[in-house]
Amino acid sequence: MNLNIKETLQRTLIVQIEILNTTKKGVYENKINEFKELVLSSGTKIIKTIEGKQDKPVSSTFVKKGKTLEIRNIVEELKIDLVIFNHNLTPSQERNLESIFKARVLDRTGLILDIFALRARSYVGKLQVELAQLTHLSTRLVRGWSHLERQRGGIGLRGGPGEKQLEVDRRLINQRIKTINKRLGKVHKQKNLNRYSRKKNKNIIVALVGYTNSGKTTLFNILTGNDQFVADQPFATLDSVTRRNKSFDLNSVLFSDTVGFISELPTQLIESFKATLDELKSADLLLHVVDISDPDFLFKFEEVNILLEELNLSHIPQLRVNNKIDKIDFKSRSSDFHPEDKEIWISAKENIGLETLNKYMDHYVNKRVFVGWISLQSAVGKIRAYLYSIGCVLEEKSCTSSGLVQLHIRIEKNKLKKLLLKKSVALKDYENLIIEEAV
Ligand code: GTP
Repeated sequence: MNLNIKETLQRTLIVQIEILNTTKKGVYENKINEFKELVLSSGTKIIKTIEGKQDKPVSSTFVKKGKTLEIRNIVEELKIDLVIFNHNLTPSQERNLESIFKARVLDRTGLILDIFALRARSYVGKLQVELAQLTHLSTRLVRGWSHLERQRGGIGLRGGPGEKQLEVDRRLINQRIKTINKRLGKVHKQKNLNRYSRKKNKNIIVALVGYTNSGKTTLFNILTGNDQFVADQPFATLDSVTRRNKSFDLNSVLFSDTVGFISELPTQLIESFKATLDELKSADLLLHVVDISDPDFLFKFEEVNILLEELNLSHIPQLRVNNKIDKIDFKSRSSDFHPEDKEIWISAKENIGLETLNKYMDHYVNKRVFVGWISLQSAVGKIRAYLYSIGCVLEEKSCTSSGLVQLHIRIEKNKLKKLLLKKSVALKDYENLIIEEAV
């Protein structure tokens, strides 16, 4: 099923209406700019932009009658193929507008789904996008068809070929949705196993989150020495990638880059990408990357936090990484490292402030990881075997006179604490073992 507007439609008119009595606080100033960027990145040509103000949306056509007619005339005059609204339209609004404009109408959700379809590269990414598109389409297709049926003659035609076609389409869509869900289920089961073994091996997982285009992948590449695709466009990254850090010698840290967020992210996408986003659940720390040069950075920062809350991720410790300071007048904010800081200032592109980030990470990891010697009575061989099995023993010494085995280990403090409690280990002696709660 091809919903790719790039191949079919080019001449585009975009519509943004400010809803005056909106309950949503903090509507950002440059909404129209972001919308234009989204539209352009879908590969269409913006011929005209229409803006307006209304108290509330009109139920049948979203825009008021006068505006609807204005748009209709422009569509005709400028030979517009596609009208994109920066709002979410109901299926009937979309259908009514299409029949007035005699042009295709797409809403914000449809546009974002389309961009995701253009960007999806991996097998899983493609499946997830297709699932979201089919879910979005299913309601519209059904209504669209019944609308066509009515146009063709209505009564008397019910149960005719169109009705059968509708049934066939519905069945095909449902079958495809089932197949995709099954395939995704399989892949994610495998991924969960990997996640479990990663956790088991006691890596610390640091996930980069943030609004789209904030610079997550640029930072990820620097931290991991990787070469993921970076572009000045929304949703350059759709799939999660996890790689070991390269910048400091504690090699137990894995960084994970994932899909960027956007205001009003379509629910179908959140649903379909849940498994990808679920990977964030295994993160120990979130680096929330913010494009500080964006005039709407605060609004976007809050939008991301709302999404994190919806995804039950707000409990994970977060460091705000204010990126792109090279683009602003950044007057020597202290680059000293203070472990209690909740935000740092960097330019991933210009390599500024990354030392501070590394110091923070170093401190964070050291706070969580115990590296030192423990002494076990040789009788507790089970513990020794276990510590070896999770790969955390660095060195071993035995003392025949005392009957003690000394192990130099590196292990997450929480894990060691659990081990001590659970197994009631008769540890005779341990140095440097200060067990603290992780930050
Ligand atoms: P999505 O994958 O779309 O979510 O984007 P992202 O957050 O991964 O951003 P990405 O790393 O792809 O960067 C987006 C754009 O910002 C690219 O053009 C980068 O070159 C640019 N960029 C990233 N960091 C900086 C920075 O520190 N300064 C400047 N000036 N540009 C930056």
